[in-house]
Amino acid sequence: MSRATGPDLFVDDARLGQGATAALLVHGIGQLVTVHDPELDGAGPRRGRGLGELGVFTGAALAVEEGRVLAVGREAAVRAAVRLAPGAALVDAGGRCVVPGWVDPHTHAVFGRTRQDEYERRVRGETYLQIAAAGGGIHASVRDLRGRSEDELVTLSVPRLAEMLAHGTTTVEIKSGYGLTLADESKMLRAARRAAAAAGVRAVLTCLAAHEVPAEYKDRREAYVRLIVEEILPVVAREGLAERVDVFCEPSVFTLEETERIVHAAARVGLGATLHAEELEPMGGAALAARLDASSADHLIRIDATGIAALAAAGTVAVLLPGTVFTLGLARYAPAREMIEAGCAVALATDFNPGSSPLQSMPLVQAIACTQMRMTPAEALVASTLNSAWALGLARQVGSLAPGKAADFLLLDGEDYRLVAYRAGHNPVAAVWRDGRPVGR
Ligand code: NIG
Ligand code: FE
Repeated sequence: MSRATGPDLFVDDARLGQGATAALLVHGIGQLVTVHDPELDGAGPRRGRGLGELGVFTGAALAVEEGRVLAVGREAAVRAAVRLAPGAALVDAGGRCVVPGWVDPHTHAVFGRTRQDEYERRVRGETYLQIAAAGGGIHASVRDLRGRSEDELVTLSVPRLAEMLAHGTTTVEIKSGYGLTLADESKMLRAARRAAAAAGVRAVLTCLAAHEVPAEYKDRREAYVRLIVEEILPVVAREGLAERVDVFCEPSVFTLEETERIVHAAARVGLGATLHAEELEPMGGAALAARLDASSADHLIRIDATGIAALAAAGTVAVLLPGTVFTLGLARYAPAREMIEAGCAVALATDFNPGSSPLQSMPLVQAIACTQMRMTPAEALVASTLNSAWALGLARQVGSLAPGKAADFLLLDGEDYRLVAYRAGHNPVAAVWRDGRPVGR
């Protein structure tokens, strides 16, 4: 569909041939980061050296038609190739940088109250698992969420998602997992769908009924796994409440065997899978995700050489969440460099949730990834766009500024993409477009 017409331009020949004209032209772009490379992008997510390939044009322009990218490249080449529609919108980037919208492939963005009380307890020395064992952590959010209506959850979630959009997240994954009954998981997923639509972000929803064994099933965990497998997942699939399943695969939560049963049950009803793996204690969840052909294995703080080799050989994307390590104040980050060198397809996400990662900003995640995991700013950018789109099964639609893809892009407030990771804590996003329409900031 797209082809390189020389080094100056990528254009959608098919649409141009049908007479497509640009409804929007962003011009005067000092540095246009497309993350598009026709040689690299046919086969799968970026790995190894490809992870740092940005596809940059300088002195560039971006042409959009019907919400999708029509052409990207050097400004003179774009202007020569594309006619403007009558009344087309012209946006002058003023020499600043344009990048694809961030894709955040792992969040728990729908919840009730925040948990700063636990944050203070951790700062004072208690661990995440100790707080969880004492009835806090996920259990605290479950008790809270069960008492709230769907409307209330929507009201709480819209501004949270809008804040993510203002930091440049145009596509977000949202998990359930604070309901842990059929009714409450369904309520949470419906609220997530409505809140994302109201906030203007594209969303992929994931059923995480296997986030924790709820208190009322404490001594009957087998019955809870059966509830997930026999009741919750079939309803979630039938009612289109989510696209995927997730399991908190962790020694103190769900075992490898339970995880496998849940993923198989999800597959039977047509849901994809992703796993929380090797977050707090190592147990082989990464290799299991690879064997089950999950779309991603996430966290991976405690991954070992076997897990790394398994992911490197699989299509499963390794989603790293360094904001969680930062917030929990853990001693080690996921071994990103080792994983990249071994050939794993690395992506980044916020893990936004009220407990282990209250941070919503993909730019901040990129900053932590570079400073603490030694990813380069270019690797962090590709891991936050194209590879995270692969993690969600959306790489044909979003994640790069390639002809035919959604025109989801960000105008930064500076001229160089490296400012994103460099200015930790600053929001570098000056303006956000989704499907070719201005949506934020
Ligand atoms: O990804 N690991 C499990 N779930 C979240 C924490 C959720 C919570 O504490 O509420 C995580 O870290
Ligand atoms: Fe998580």
